[in-house]
Amino acid sequence: MIIAVDGPAGAGKSTVAKILAQKLGFLYIDTGAMYRALTLSALENNLDLNDTKALVKLARILRINLEKDNNGSLRTFIDGRDVSQLIREPRITQVVSDVAKIKDVREIMVKSQRQMARQNDCVVEGRDIATVVFPGADKKFYIDANFQKRAKRRFRELKNLNVGGISLENVALDLKNRDKIDSTREVAPLKKAQDAIYIDTTNMTIEEVVNAILIKIRNPDDKAQNSK
Ligand code: CDP
Repeated sequence: MIIAVDGPAGAGKSTVAKILAQKLGFLYIDTGAMYRALTLSALENNLDLNDTKALVKLARILRINLEKDNNGSLRTFIDGRDVSQLIREPRITQVVSDVAKIKDVREIMVKSQRQMARQNDCVVEGRDIATVVFPGADKKFYIDANFQKRAKRRFRELKNLNVGGISLENVALDLKNRDKIDSTREVAPLKKAQDAIYIDTTNMTIEEVVNAILIKIRNPDDKAQNSK
């Protein structure tokens, strides 16, 4: 079974997808971490982020792995090196959308995502999961929240991760910038799949969102709704 969870940054997607996967005993696939890992490696190799060819070449040779650690958290590895913390740094967040909009980069990532999901039940989280990666997913959710709330949530998350050099203002600016690039790009833009269930989490707790999703998953007769 594949459960697709899409939506913009700060809507609570990752937290919800992670808990959901734990509760269901499914594999959790954070596709954003893969685009972040590629971006980190590009910066470490001093690649010009406008050099599409070089980025695609790097994407082809890089081994990006997502693995669960002993605490059940997902860790991201590049060629065996744990980069879970590094990929959350603002220098990555600021430019990841420029790397993720490249068509051939996406093709490589999508192929790898499909491979990972081949033999497992999974919760897959991203921007284009229900529309492009797994259009045949068993359940599709689009998690959203109003802009202010998303900015505040992301700011708090980064503070908790001890990421330095951030303010609510620059977190909001980053979100605005990424929302724009992610939803207007030519290839696989962020949008709600027609048959995805829309959940506005602005006034919901994580627990409420998880429960709402579990009810939808467990009710096979439940039709997707288009509340947006
Ligand atoms: O965690 P956050 O919502 O900040 O973002 P993320 O899921 O880590 O994704 C980082 C970036 O990767 C997004 O802003 C997109 O540009 C890109 N991405 C994508 O294009 N397609 C996906 N399936 C997942 C992420």
